[in-house]
Amino acid sequence: HRLAVLISGSGTNLQAILDAIDAGSLEARVTLVLSNRADAGGLQRARRAGVDTAVIDHRDYPDRPAFDHAMIRELDAHGADTVALAGFMRILSSDFVRHYDGRLINIHPSLLPLHRGLHTHARALEAGDREHGCSIHFVTEELDGGPLIAQARLPILANDTPETLSKRVQEYEHGLYPEVLQWRAAGRLRLTTQGVALDGEIL
Ligand code: GRF
Repeated sequence: HRLAVLISGSGTNLQAILDAIDAGSLEARVTLVLSNRADAGGLQRARRAGVDTAVIDHRDYPDRPAFDHAMIRELDAHGADTVALAGFMRILSSDFVRHYDGRLINIHPSLLPLHRGLHTHARALEAGDREHGCSIHFVTEELDGGPLIAQARLPILANDTPETLSKRVQEYEHGLYPEVLQWRAAGRLRLTTQGVALDGEIL
């Protein structure tokens, strides 16, 4: 299974994916790690693992479609059965989303549909939520709104801060993302017109 990973930052989820491949629990090959930022820490992680990297800086393109088409060219040149967003901080155009229809997956640090967008940990605390977590979903044109694949939930503790919460959520992310990607690698997970199907059953 050919996996491409899009990042903008430190890439701890990318690291979890690379580690799972190393450990044999994720039967995939990362064909490309693509970042929109040259200083993304995840690029080092990819290089250390001997994975091809590319930087496509959105500031070098006149508009979002031009940037997205540059990414499509690079991704398709490397081959990708699944494109995993792992802390990729740009909104994708409908052209991009449609091009990878059913192959594009994102991880988001909240229990969607709660807290789409940024600052999810602070917002969960402000809202007085008792639970928080992360969600993995197929990407559609609606931001953080695509069909859900899996979630991990954890209780919010009385003395949690956005930082402590973020740290605990990330630990769950690092377990869940490689697991879901293995479902893809094993051909068990599909996006159908009916919704998300795992082993042929609609979730
Ligand atoms: C994660 O919390 C992920 O849910 C969100 O961005 C963060 C990326 O962290 N989309 P990292 O770069 O994988 O460390």
